[in-house]
This record gives sequence, C-alpha cells and structure tokens, in this order.
Amino acid sequence: MTERKDDRLWGGRFDKAPDALFDAFQNSFAFDCRLLPYEIAVDRAWAKALQGVHILTESEVRQTLAALDKIAERSEADPVWLASSSAEDVHHFVEKALVEELGPVGWKLHTGRSRNELVATDFRLFVIDAAAEIRAGLIALIRAFVMQAKANLKIPLAGMTHMQHAQPILLSHFLMAHAQAFSRDLTRLQNASTSADACPMGSGALAGCAFAIDRKAIASDLGFSRITSNSLDAVSNRDFALDYLFALSGIATHLSRLAEDFVLFASQEFSYVILPDEYSTGSSLMPQKKNPDSWELLRGKTGRITSVLFALFTTLKGLPTSYQRDLQEDKEALFAAQDQVRDMLAVATGALALTKFREDRLRTAASNPALLATDAADYLVRRGIPFRQAHDLVGQVLREAEKQSKPWFQLSSTDFRKISPHFGDDFLPSLSVDSAIASKSVPGGTAEESVRVAIAQLEQNLEQLEKQP
Ligand code: ARG
Repeated sequence: MTERKDDRLWGGRFDKAPDALFDAFQNSFAFDCRLLPYEIAVDRAWAKALQGVHILTESEVRQTLAALDKIAERSEADPVWLASSSAEDVHHFVEKALVEELGPVGWKLHTGRSRNELVATDFRLFVIDAAAEIRAGLIALIRAFVMQAKANLKIPLAGMTHMQHAQPILLSHFLMAHAQAFSRDLTRLQNASTSADACPMGSGALAGCAFAIDRKAIASDLGFSRITSNSLDAVSNRDFALDYLFALSGIATHLSRLAEDFVLFASQEFSYVILPDEYSTGSSLMPQKKNPDSWELLRGKTGRITSVLFALFTTLKGLPTSYQRDLQEDKEALFAAQDQVRDMLAVATGALALTKFREDRLRTAASNPALLATDAADYLVRRGIPFRQAHDLVGQVLREAEKQSKPWFQLSSTDFRKISPHFGDDFLPSLSVDSAIASKSVPGGTAEESVRVAIAQLEQNLEQLEKQP
C-alpha cells in the first residue's frame, strides 16, 4: 500500500476531519518546533536501533539518516517552511517531511514507538541543554560579583537586619553573600540536569517496545547516561521539568532580592551606588530622574518564572498515571521561562559589572556608632561579664546618652563608670568600624582576611566548574 487517506498520524479510524477550531487548539507545532533538533537526533538513534531488529535494512537506514540531515538543514535555512507547515506537532512534521523525501520508507521509522516517549525524550534533551545555557549565564554573573568584591574589598557597609542598622560589614562580604546564593543555584541546575538525564526511548506509548531494540545503545547515542526504568512512569514523568523550573525559580528569586538591594541603594536616601547609564532610564516629565529600571524589571519578571513552576504543578496534580494530553502544557511555559531567565542573567551581569559604589556614602553610613553597640557588649564580655548583663549595661549607656541628647560615645568616663566600673579607659579607643569588622575573622565572617579566603575558594570552584563539560 502506498496511499493513505490523509497524512494525519492517526486518521485511519475517523470518518470526519477535526473541527477547525479544535484542530488549531490541539496543535502544538507552533511551540514544540523548538524541539526539532532533538526530535531529529532521536530519530537518527531510533533508525539505527530499528536496523538492529531488522525492521530497517542498512540501505533504508542510510536513506533515512540522509533525509533527516536534509530536513535539519532545510528547517534551519528556511523558517517559512516550518511556519507554513500544517503539521500537528514536531513528531508529525518530521514524519511528513521524511515521507516527502523517501516515500513509504518514511512510514517505517515510527515502528514500535510512540509520540508519548518521543516528547518526553526530546523535552529531557532540551532541559539538559537549557540547564547548560543558564549555567554559563550564572557563572558570568558570579564572576561579576567576584570582580566587584575584589575592586571594593575594604569598603565598609552598614550591615542591616529588619532594614535597621545592625553591625558593620564589608561591602565585599555583602557582594559575596549574593555570589554564594547564585552558586547554590548552580547546584540546583546540576540536580535538574541529572533528573532529566535518563532516556525514555523504548517505553512505547506506555507498555514498552515489542521489538527487542537496544535501549542502552539509543540512550548513549543521544548522550544520556541512563535509561528510564519503568515504561509507564517514563511517559507520565515530568519531575525533571519541575526540578528545572525549581532551579529557574531559585535564580529568579535571588535576582529579585539582589534587585531590591540595588533599588534601595540607588535611592537618594542611601545613595550607595551610581547606576550605570547603560542600564537605567529617565523620566519623560522629570528631567533629573535616573531610574533603576533594569533592577525593577528583574524584580518584576520573577513572578513570571515562579508562576510557571506552579502552573506545571497544577497541571500535574490529579493526572492519572500514564501519558495524558494535558502534559502538552509543560513546554510552552518552560520555554518562555528559559528565555526570560537567560536574559535576566545577562542584564543583571551587565548592570552589576558597571555599577559604581560610592565609598564616601558607604563609609559615612557605616560610621554610625550605633553599629558598634554589640562590640561594646563584647568588650565587657572579654572582661568577664556574662553577655546578657553586658547587653543590659550597653543598653543603659544608650539610654543615658538619649537622656543627655548626645551620641553615646560622647558620654564622660564618669557616666560610663557609673553604669559599670568595667568600662575602662581603653573602652572607647577600642571601638571602631575597622576593628569591629576585623574581629569577625571566623571562616565565613566579614573580616577582610575571611572575605579574601571566601573569594579565593569561590574562584577555585568556578575554575573547576568551567573545566567540566
Ligand atoms: N504534542 C504532544 C505533547 O506535547 C505530543 C504527544 C502527543 N501524544 C498523543 N498521544 N497525542 O505532549
């Protein structure tokens, strides 16, 4: 038989064509055409596997591979060919094109396989490449943090909790805190990639393949390190997509926190940073304005990413085990999140790298004596006073200063002694922003030495990561 009723993948048992609106509604080619390179790679591996079980002859495999090459080339060179196709999805598209090239031989490739496993395999391959793309963007961002931390290593910053002055830290320590968060995102990306790294081919529609194809050979041909272990689970499973969206949501959430810090730092009240012109915009009305739009948009776009994670959770909730067409909803939103996070990382990296820090403003704010209250209590602790009592005594000092309406370090030594005889003459001279920072020299602390170690360790990790494929 060399004729078919129509070129749908499933037309045989139907009398009528689908309703036009429904047909457009169920069509996924407009977005899943993005999976075409993966579909073709899977088709190549499958053709070779079919030769192994004598479904395709050597010459048919050769013809099929050559036709697949042609399809790949034409689809790159001729976007109109894709855009004008009536294919239902990417799987249909390739089969149609194959039949146009080869005639009935093109109908053999779908032997023993289902779109259910194809789409899962293509999507896993996409997620693995997508994670690598985002990883490169993250590494560039982390490098920008390291560059800024080194360039501003010794500048103090009024560290805050609850947005209230807390203790002095180094600006470089603050920058490295963000770098640490983004380094954890690298681990999450790796986890998502590992989760995607198992090949479903050979799972069939749900039951497995009736031909004894070599699943491991197909997997390794495609660069997977494992095969999936249950055919029914393999066509149902989208955990790898959830894991990947979780990793993207983590990145977006960290970007949004960073953005909030910089929006505040750029405000007139802080004036800690000078925004780069290249990443700011002005006002159509107020000539003086320079707005931190790059950071605001980074903060704002985060919702799009986390919403995709919840959208997929919601799609999956309550689905019966096996392939269901609902699963088609997994791709479009993930593709959009991918593009968005890629651009968000590039914008954040550019804006961060060109940001100038105002040392004068940062130092002035960090010189607020209130930031040294904890160090004042530590002074008493070093003289044997239990911490809670020391905390109270420093509290009394602050209250006395408030009563006398002066900064607490301007109280007289008599005032101090009245509160506690343990306040010696060396008390005030021992307190300074620099010594407060230098005293936090534990690993992970804000002392310059500790920050230098943290920078060196992170740089070492990055070098190792960059060596990995
Ligand atoms: N377009 C479908 C998807 O994205 C491909 C699999 C369709 N399978 C089916 N039996 N209709 O999930």
